[in-house]
Amino acid sequence: MTRRSHPPVVVVGAGIAGMSVALSLAPHPVILLCGEAPGAGGATPLAAGGIAAALGPGDDPRHHAEDTMRAGHCNDADAVATLVGSAADAIAWLEATGVAFDRAGDALDAGLEGGHGRPRILHAGGDATGAAIACALARAVAATPSIETWTGMDIHGLRIDATGRVVGVLAGDRDGHPHIIDGQAVVLACGGIGGLFEDRTGPGDLQGLAISAGSSVGARLRDLPFIQFHPTALAVPSTRTQGRRTLITEALRGAGAVLRDAHGRRLMAGHPLADLAPRDVVARAVVAADRPWLDTSPCSKAWPELFPATTASLRRHGLEPGMPIPVCTAQHFHMGGLATDLAGAASVPGLHAVGECACNGVHGANRLASNSLLEGVVFGRFTARAIAAAPARRVGTPATRALPANADPQALARIRATLARSMGPQRDRDMLARARLALRGNSRQDIVARALVDAALALPASVGAHHWRTAAAGVDQQLAAGA
Ligand code: SIN
Repeated sequence: MTRRSHPPVVVVGAGIAGMSVALSLAPHPVILLCGEAPGAGGATPLAAGGIAAALGPGDDPRHHAEDTMRAGHCNDADAVATLVGSAADAIAWLEATGVAFDRAGDALDAGLEGGHGRPRILHAGGDATGAAIACALARAVAATPSIETWTGMDIHGLRIDATGRVVGVLAGDRDGHPHIIDGQAVVLACGGIGGLFEDRTGPGDLQGLAISAGSSVGARLRDLPFIQFHPTALAVPSTRTQGRRTLITEALRGAGAVLRDAHGRRLMAGHPLADLAPRDVVARAVVAADRPWLDTSPCSKAWPELFPATTASLRRHGLEPGMPIPVCTAQHFHMGGLATDLAGAASVPGLHAVGECACNGVHGANRLASNSLLEGVVFGRFTARAIAAAPARRVGTPATRALPANADPQALARIRATLARSMGPQRDRDMLARARLALRGNSRQDIVARALVDAALALPASVGAHHWRTAAAGVDQQLAAGA
C-alpha cells in the first residue's frame, strides 16, 4: 500500500457511480474496492438505452424535470431539479473523461424512450452506452495515481468508531483473507437488489449489500417497495443465464417498435403515450398480455445498424431483424435504498451512498428511463465534493459491525422464488404475508428481502411500481385512464 498524507476515502463498487466519486475526489486518496475490475462488473456495462440530458433544440431541464416527476409520482423535487440541472455539466465531464457519444453531424444524437416528451437520450456505440462509459471511466481510473483499486473484494462489515461514525470496512479477498480498511469516509456504490430476483436484467451478485450494511449501523432506508420491472426482457428460455435476461432496449420502442399480444393486438394503444408510456404502466400491460411480443416493422429498415448490440443478442438466439421478439418483464432497477441527502450522506456520519443503492427520492416510485446513468455521475460528483470539503478525520479505535452471513445457494433460490411470487409488478397482501413467512432465514439476503416485503405491506395504496392487484380495475381500465 502507498503512503498517504490524508486518510483515504473507501469507495465500494466500481460502476458509473463509484468511479465518478473516485475520479472526482482526485488527488484525494481513494481505495476503490470491487468484485471485478473497474467497469467490468455491476449493472453499468449492461445499460443499453443511454443517458438523459435536455440539450437539444427546444428542450429545457424543466421539461426533463416534468417528465421525471410525471413518471415517478412522488419524487423529491429538489433532487430532480439538481439532477436535470446538472445534466449538461455531467455530459461535459463524461466527454472530457473520454466518453465518445454518438453524433448526428456536429450535434450529439438524441433518441427517445418511455415517459420522455422529447428526444433527449444520448447514447454511445448505438445501444452500448453503459459499456462505453464504463470503459472510458475505467481507463481514467487506471490513469489516476490517487486511486488504489482492490479487486476480488467482498464486504463483510462496516467499521464504526466510538462516536458512531463509519470510518472503514471489513473486506474479504478471493482467498478468504480478511482486510481492515479504515479511512476518512465510506461511500457505498454497490448497486441494487436484482440478484434477489429469479428474472432480472442485471447481474446476480447484486443482492442489497448497501441495505444490509446500512442497516447494520442503523442507517435509514427509504422507498424500499419501489422496484422497477422492465417490460421488454427477451422471453426466450435459452436467454436466461443464471436469471439474467437479455434486455431489449426501450430505445427500440423510441424508434417505433410496438408491443402486441398473441392475437396481434397493440398492448398500449389505449394510453396517450402508447408504447412510450412510463415503464411501470407498460410492465403491467405486458404481465397481463397473452404471449406479448415486440413488433419492429414500424421502425426504419436501418434499426439493426442503430442497435448493434441488441441485434447481435437477438441473432445469438436465432432471431433475425423483422422477426417477432417475444418479451416478458424482468426486475430491472431499485428506486429505494439507503436514504441520503443530495451530497450522498446517509443518516449515519461518515457513511455515504451513490447510484442505485442510494435513495434521495430522485426517482420517486418509478424511475424515468435513462436517468440512472445520469444519477450516478451527478450525485457521484456532488458526493466527492462534499467529502473533499469536510475536514479530514483522524481514525480512532473503530470496532467492526459484521454483516450476517451470505445465503447458501439453496436459501438464495428460495428467496428468489419467494420474491418472484410476491414482489413483482402486481402485488397482493396474501402473497406478501406468505412471503414474510417463507423469508425466515438469518442470511443477509433473507433480511434484505424481508425488509422489502415489510415495506410493501406498509403501503396502503398503489403508487408507481408498487401496484396492488385489484380484481375490479383491470389493466385496460388503467390504460384508458392513462394510469
Ligand atoms: C433500456 O435501455 O430500456 C433501459 C434504460 C434504463 O433503464 O434507463
